[in-house]
Amino acid sequence: MSLPAGLKLFDLTGHVAVVNGASSGIGASLAGALHSCGAQVVCVARREDRLRQVAAPIGGAYVVGDVAKRDTLDAIAAKASGFFGPPDIVINAAGINIRAPAHEVRAEDWDEVMAVQLAAPLFFTQRFVGAMRDKGWGRIINIGSLSTERALPSATVYGTAKTAIWGLTRQMALDFSPWGVTVNAICPGYFETELTAPVVADTARWQRLAESTMIGRNGNLEDLHGAAIFLASNAGGYVTGQTLFVDGGFTAK
Ligand SMILES: NC(=O)c1ccc[n+]([C@@H]2O[C@H](COP(=O)([O-])OP(=O)(O)OC[C@H]3O[C@@H](n4cnc5c(N)ncnc54)[C@H](OP(=O)(O)O)[C@@H]3O)[C@@H](O)[C@H]2O)c1
Repeated sequence: MSLPAGLKLFDLTGHVAVVNGASSGIGASLAGALHSCGAQVVCVARREDRLRQVAAPIGGAYVVGDVAKRDTLDAIAAKASGFFGPPDIVINAAGINIRAPAHEVRAEDWDEVMAVQLAAPLFFTQRFVGAMRDKGWGRIINIGSLSTERALPSATVYGTAKTAIWGLTRQMALDFSPWGVTVNAICPGYFETELTAPVVADTARWQRLAESTMIGRNGNLEDLHGAAIFLASNAGGYVTGQTLFVDGGFTAK
């Protein structure tokens, strides 16, 4: 069945995506979203059982790997490129949060969170951008947060990394956009995932957060699909260096 002409802008048929942090939560959901538009998807994370569960129903592939370990990134990238060819879409969704107020942050926690949340989006993406340059087409999506713009409780390291994602996204966009490779960030509001389990468990706080949005609820993972598909497809081809808040109006309120 052929698509209406306007929808072809969003068609990802023929594209290969690699999504890190794809064993759960936002990464897993976005892997499915890209597949639903025709992309072949390679999922990357550390837990093989969870990767298998995400990749199998979407006919995808997976690579077990730790994106914080820089000396393993070449091997992860080589494997990821071996299934369907070199990816031309990268989503950096791997994430951890070690919650502590500023006066209690430990140096090892700083290093661990920064390695996953800030360094990995650059060094993981570097492994794929050469092939995108050769092709003259590529899409990179980083994941920010409300803490990209706001101070949040006990988010000293996380929030600092996410604020820097805004800058990293702009810098990568400056260097890669002339090659036909756009770089943008999506900043989600609050979504129920393993990462936010401690927040969800505090039902009064979860309710207050919902009321802090304009729409009046926290996010469902599907709420992120439209933004990701737009930025991953030809529809978003003239959008680069941008940070898009998908937060029900939280930061605009
Ligand atoms: N949920 C929210 O409300 C929210 C809001 C704003 C931003 N975010 C951001 O969205 C991204 C996804 O988070 P989420 O909420 O979907 O949490 P999640 O369900 O806990 O997912 C995090 C993913 O990252 C992977 N991961 C963690 N460390 C890794 C490493 N060193 N190497 C490879 N993969 C690693 C985890 O898989 P393995 O454990 O299998 O490696 C998992 O697949 C994060 O950047 C998070 O900060 C989330």
